[in-house]
Order: sequence, then structure tokens, then C-alpha cells
Amino acid sequence: MGHTANDMILPNVRFARPLHVGRPNLGDRSRLLCRIEEMLDRVWLSNDGPLVNEFEQRVAEIAGVRNCVAMANATIALEIATRAAGITGEVIIPAYTFVATAHALQWQGITPVFCDIDPVTHNLDPACIERLITPKTSAIIGVHMWGKPCLVEELTTIADRHGLTLMFDAAHGFGCAHAGRPIGGFGLAEVFSFHATKFVNCAEGGAVVTNNDELAAKMRLMRNFGFSGYDNVIYVGTNGKMNELSAAMGLTSLDSMPRIVETNRGNYAAYAVALRDLPGVTLIAYDETQSQNYQYVVLDIEPAQSPLTRDQLVQVLHAHNVLARRYFFPGVHRMEPYRSYYPNADLLLPVTEDVVRRVVVLPTGTAVSPSDVEQIGRIIRWALDNAGDLRKRLPETIPPGGRFDEGWA
Ligand SMILES: Cc1ncc(COP(=O)(O)O)c(C=O)c1O
Repeated sequence: MGHTANDMILPNVRFARPLHVGRPNLGDRSRLLCRIEEMLDRVWLSNDGPLVNEFEQRVAEIAGVRNCVAMANATIALEIATRAAGITGEVIIPAYTFVATAHALQWQGITPVFCDIDPVTHNLDPACIERLITPKTSAIIGVHMWGKPCLVEELTTIADRHGLTLMFDAAHGFGCAHAGRPIGGFGLAEVFSFHATKFVNCAEGGAVVTNNDELAAKMRLMRNFGFSGYDNVIYVGTNGKMNELSAAMGLTSLDSMPRIVETNRGNYAAYAVALRDLPGVTLIAYDETQSQNYQYVVLDIEPAQSPLTRDQLVQVLHAHNVLARRYFFPGVHRMEPYRSYYPNADLLLPVTEDVVRRVVVLPTGTAVSPSDVEQIGRIIRWALDNAGDLRKRLPETIPPGGRFDEGWA
């Protein structure tokens, strides 16, 4: 007797609405609308407005730095930060990151050089960095993956020893800390993302934070076409400005920051209970002695121990309307144009190659409740208990861009 698709779904547990990873956390609606009303009364929508200024001050304070330069998004913030810092030639970055870390460089004719990561922290492996430094290397950009800090001290030592600039893509790291210091103050500059999917969001937004006043002044020029006052362009620039509407969103989101952390922390704790003692499934831990935003609930699926592959588990979750994600599959080195430029890059990236096949990110945030989490835990437990049947039906792997619903047709 063949199975029907419905036999393969845990009865009564499919979510009626899809649960997305990174569903936006919305702040207090009336506070937001009030800010927007005030903005409309001022008729000041962009260009160094009061809401952007307030947002910059509050972000700088939380990050413990002197300067915050708000931008339209983190990608342009990375472009402007690297350009203002005079970075050229080759820059060492992890291959395990969102593609924007590489694109921000490539877009400017700077060569991203892909470095392997540590299998536990998912952050740059200092030993691999040393092997990739050439006379053309000008910088290292670490990524605080999942808001978990890079090995900042080791990276600083390497950068200093070789005369390289050190920066951080801190897109995930707002509200997190390392050694008692907020992420934001490490290296020459750090870049936050305030995209809709991020812990605190402006719908679209980003910022560079730095204690270097000269760099900050240069970035302020660059984000506004190089204008220094009316009619006076003194520098080549682009349009990287944050607008007042985005700042209104961001400020309202900042007001809710403690509540969002509490919700994320509660969900994380509920996941820890719901996923206890599952074969081959580990919930990635945060350092509880440091501030965290708990925005990412990350599972590591150990192929030798889990009765289902990572991709089979993702297929089961999608069938139950839990839209789990394979971040950051298949690795930036396997995306264009890098795949064509460096067809053998995978040989130097064994840990990245392994991690991109093991990680699943689950929904959290204010749209997800602890009882949703309990239900997701039940689905995963049931799937592993029924792996024999599910394995017969579901492809072991799904290629990049592939569909997760084909085994259910
Ligand atoms: C690690 C990382 N870097 C950069 C970005 C780009 O941010 P944005 O969407 O604000 O341009 C993202 C996510 O969106 C990210 O996850």
C-alpha cells in the first residue's frame, strides 16, 4: 500500500498560517503612527532629519560608540564603510555568510577571498585567515554569525601583525555583547542591518558604527553624494541615506527592544525543552553570560546520527507550514559570480561545506509563541520517530533554489 501525502503529515498539527523565519517584529503601532504624524507635520522626509538623528544617537548609545551613521540598508553601509576606509585589493571574509558581505566588495571591484570557519561558532577561523593573506590583502571582515561574536582578540592580533584593516559585518549582532562590551565597538567599524527580518528593524535600514570620527565624517559625505552643505560637493558619493519613515520604524522598534529580547529568549528556552534528547539534532547555544538578542534559532543536524537528512527535515517542516530556512546554503563561494570565478573554492572550505549542509533555522520573534514552539518540537520529534517511512518518500537533498514540496505531490 502506497502512502498518500496526508499520511506523511502529523495529524492536526499543520499550522493554518505559514510560520516564517524572520517575520518582522512590529513595535507599538500608535507610537509609530504618532511619529509619522509628526514627520508629516514637519514635512521633513529625508536628508538628516530629526528622526534619523535620534535613531543614530540611540543606536550609538546601545552599541557603546561615538558615531553611528545610519544608511538605507546594511549592504550600502558595507560598501560605504569599506570605501571610506580605503580598502582595496583583496579582503578576507567567511564564505559562510549572507551573500551581501561578498557583493558589497565585488560591486566595488574589491576581491572577496573566502575563508573557512570554526565548526562550533560558525565564525572565521583565525588559522585559515593567516594562510590567505597575500601582498594584495588590505582587510579582514568578520561576520558575527547569529549575533555570536567573532574571536575579536585573535582577529585584532592578526590584523595588527599584518597591517590590515579589521571590520565586522554585525548585521546579526545588534544588542549582543562580547567580553562585556556591546558589539559595535570592535575593529575600525561595524555594520548593523535593520532590515525587516532583523531583531530591531526599520523595514529597510542599516548603520555603520565607529569610534573613528574622521571615518564617520567621510561616510556622512559619501552617503549623501559627497555634499557638504548646499551646492558644495567635495567628494565622490552615492545615495545611502536612511529616510525619516525608516527611522520612525527603527525608533519604534528600539522602544520594543526589551520585549523582543524577552520573547526571543522565551522562545529559545521553549525550543531547548521541545528539542531535548533528539538523535542528531542540536540547538546551537548562546553564551548566557553575555547580552544576546536570540534572533536566530539554529539547529545543527548531525548526518551520522539523525535518522533524516537536514533537507528531509526541512521538507517535513514545510509540509506543516513551518518555513524553516537553510541559512546560508550553499555558501557564498557556490553562488554567482564567485562559483565561476573560483570553481575549486570548496577544496579550501571543508568546514563551510559541512556546515551549509547541517544548519536549519527555525521561526522565532514576536509572531511565534511558546506553544507554537512546542508544536514545532512535536513535528520534529514525530518526523524523526517516523523517519523510516519519510525517507522512502522524500529526496535526501534539495538543490539550491529547489522546491521543498515535491515529495508530497
Ligand atoms: C550577514 C549579513 N550581512 C549583510 C546583510 C545585508 O543586510 P541588508 O538587507 O540590510 O542590506 C545581511 C542580511 O540581510 C546579513 O545577514
